[in-house]
Amino acid sequence: MCGISGIVHSENVGRNLFNSIRNLEYRGYDSCGMAMLSKGEFDIRKNIGGIDEVNAIEQLDKMNGMIGIAHTRWATHGGVTQANAHPHLSYKREFVIVHNGIFSNYQELREQLMDQDVVFESLTDTEVFVNLLEASYSESNDLEKAFLAALKKIEGSYSIVMLSAHDPEHLYCVKKGSPLLLGLGEGCNYVGSDLNAFLEYTRQAIVLDDGEYVVLGRDDYQIRNVQTGEVTEKSVLHIDWDVETSKKGGYSHYMLKEIFDEPQAILQALKIPSEQISVLARMFTEASRAYFMGVGTTFYVANISQYYFSTLAGQYYASVSSDEFSIVTVEPGDLVLALSQSGETFDTKISLEYAKISGAQTAAIVNVMGSAISMMVDNVIMQGSGPEICVVSTKAALAQTFIMLRVALELGMMKGCLTQDVYQKHQEDLELFPELVQQILNEQSGFVRNIARDTSHVEHWLFLGCDIYYPVAMESALKMKEVTYQHAEGMPAGFLKHGTLSMVEKALHSLFFVPPMGQKVLHDRTLIAMEQVKARGGTVIGIIFQGDERALAACDQVVELPEMNLLCAPLAQMIMAQMFAYYAALDLGRNIDKPRNLAKSVTVG
Ligand code: AGP
Repeated sequence: MCGISGIVHSENVGRNLFNSIRNLEYRGYDSCGMAMLSKGEFDIRKNIGGIDEVNAIEQLDKMNGMIGIAHTRWATHGGVTQANAHPHLSYKREFVIVHNGIFSNYQELREQLMDQDVVFESLTDTEVFVNLLEASYSESNDLEKAFLAALKKIEGSYSIVMLSAHDPEHLYCVKKGSPLLLGLGEGCNYVGSDLNAFLEYTRQAIVLDDGEYVVLGRDDYQIRNVQTGEVTEKSVLHIDWDVETSKKGGYSHYMLKEIFDEPQAILQALKIPSEQISVLARMFTEASRAYFMGVGTTFYVANISQYYFSTLAGQYYASVSSDEFSIVTVEPGDLVLALSQSGETFDTKISLEYAKISGAQTAAIVNVMGSAISMMVDNVIMQGSGPEICVVSTKAALAQTFIMLRVALELGMMKGCLTQDVYQKHQEDLELFPELVQQILNEQSGFVRNIARDTSHVEHWLFLGCDIYYPVAMESALKMKEVTYQHAEGMPAGFLKHGTLSMVEKALHSLFFVPPMGQKVLHDRTLIAMEQVKARGGTVIGIIFQGDERALAACDQVVELPEMNLLCAPLAQMIMAQMFAYYAALDLGRNIDKPRNLAKSVTVG
């Protein structure tokens, strides 16, 4: 994934453009650059590294011009080098572009252009397009025509913003398969991969659809269809995310801030109108078969959801990792529900495409407005959790799970599995959850931090739980691996005795997700496993609920949560594990918001 941005203004916009890609840095951070046009001359600066690193070398924030484009990159084609960083200039230096996505037929086009004596500076697919554009312009001498002609020759998915000395007043932008939004200001306009590109400057936005292109001036814009050339009227959205929501606030890392955003994220999830929840629940009643799909954390959200649907609605739905979805036989009448924070994840997108081609109904729960997945499904619920900047998903994953819980409750009611009273009581418990989350964040973070500090040196962890606490353990182990780079293996507590128990010794630490004592059978099963580890000299940490003397006795250290209803208990434990991973990573000095080798949204296969 990459972040692209462009601004057309009546004043110098160097600093604003720099801020804009800084706000998009979480979309990619291996290299970045900017191009500005002033007095007919391009100033292009780019280099490898994060935004601040590159700025220290290239002084991006000191660049001048009233029109410019910028890019922050996560490499797909071509390694992380200065030459491969964007923006890319055409051979005759007439055009410059930034691009997000992939041109799948670029090799063939590159060879054709080389035959026409074009010399390439990089190995990117992007440089092929900008030269294609230059070649088209030399034939038509019309910028818009050349842009369209070049677009007709490329295949793949992309968003592009182009700047040319032939029209110093406009940016040429197009979207197909990768996100692109416009921001409308006064005497200035913006384009970017997401709202963070311009939220600091305007709250008026237009979400572009696939196949649309825009000629964007400071006071004017025209959106047209690439194929037909027809003008498209689009509605302007007022965005009420405040700028601060996109920033770290007083927290040292986005991850911590986003964990502390969780009461708010749950409140937002509660604000999703019941009709929307009912429409999604109804899709399950109408489906012959239904599947949950997600990848990484969202796969675990799907797994946790399975237990909610089974308990509350008496329905078992298979949950499938998006990257393995091809094993599923999908037929007309089936329903595929995708979970995706970013709404741009490649594996989830292609699996949804496969589901659609197979004739299934599709639905999604997504956090990012205007994202590909949000636009391709038959029914979408926007989770409204606000921007999640840290690569490690916390609030978005929690809110998604909570929304799935709401859907499971609704389905349980529709299917007659729950009485009105029970349903009502559960709804009341859910309403109280934001406050409870706030309380546990305030009360428990110190305890969690201390345990994390004591154990951050531990290189191997087992994360264990029974029933719904098993996927909670899996998700928590992923969080731990992702941000601390230490090994954590999530598994069902009952699985231990079938092999893994042989690893147990003092150095091997186990984190147990212990259910409330009210869930007697589950609680017993978990405690048996804990006692097995303890008896073999293993070190045991427990996330337990107050009053659980038996668990207390089996643990070396505990996080003790207040009593709460059974539906919210796994979610509360999930939060504690997020915090545990955060503080362990902090102690280890990890790059918390951008762990090595990872990107926020994996938009390539
Ligand atoms: C979560 O902490 C991870 N960064 C990752 O597993 C992520 O959940 C996965 O890539 C799916 O992303 P999505 O929710 O944006 O589709």
